[in-house]
Amino acid sequence: MKNILEAPFMVEMVRTLTEMYRHGWDERNGGNVSLMLSAEQVEGYLEPDRVLRTLPTGFSAPSLAGKYFLVTGTGKYFKNVQYDPAANLGIVRITEDGEHADLLWGYTDGGQFTSEFPAHMMSHVARLKADPENRVIMHCHPANILAMTYVHTLDEREFTRTLWQMCTECIVVFPDGVNVLPWMLCGTNEIGLATAEKMNTARVVVWAQHGIYGAGRDLDESFGLIETVEKGAEIYMKIAHLPRVNTISDEALHQLEGRFNVKGREGYLN
Ligand code: 13P
Ligand code: ZN
Repeated sequence: MKNILEAPFMVEMVRTLTEMYRHGWDERNGGNVSLMLSAEQVEGYLEPDRVLRTLPTGFSAPSLAGKYFLVTGTGKYFKNVQYDPAANLGIVRITEDGEHADLLWGYTDGGQFTSEFPAHMMSHVARLKADPENRVIMHCHPANILAMTYVHTLDEREFTRTLWQMCTECIVVFPDGVNVLPWMLCGTNEIGLATAEKMNTARVVVWAQHGIYGAGRDLDESFGLIETVEKGAEIYMKIAHLPRVNTISDEALHQLEGRFNVKGREGYLN
């Protein structure tokens, strides 16, 4: 058996979680990440028939049956992942009934996957329908995006337009915009379903007064997406209380659509 700690997906996951912590997005145990893996990726790194524990998920996701996920553990600090990946992360495979997860590696101290597993798995289902190459769901608590949900309307068109106006690259990185959920109780199937519903139309979902979800084809893409939204929110929080003398006009945003061959969300630009 090859050393799983040297598997490219594991190295990338640990690096990404460490970087998220360094960015201040994941205080204490804040945030969680799930990365879908193929059977080929895990082959040689673990024995697929050796199930360590079977964990109930509390929901049904039959379309994910047989799929492997590398997932952060509940209550785990991103700060510590690099020092003990096996205690802080786990690899699970969704069972045939779609209602359990077989643990194949990790959670060595008896832990289990994140409390936001419903939001992650339901969002994977939604994003895979929109983009069969989606592999990552990433959740964290960046300060500026949170701050923005206290002072800006949560109307999705308005919220997206404001962010697009904050940095030139925003519309290029998230042309599908940002969907927003009002404050809801986290860790529940209800917020999982609501998040997945929002994931049908955008790769970013903001949880008001809580944090952000980003989806992507790999860890870099989802990280970069959240990084860019957070940068837009940071600029907004620096200028929101000041008179706005200049802005990025809708005409300029249309020019960016042409230059970068992207299409802003239908009806969001004037
Ligand atoms: P977990 O420690 O269960 O992943 O929860 C952290 C979090 O961010 C909840 O929304
Ligand atoms: Zn959270």
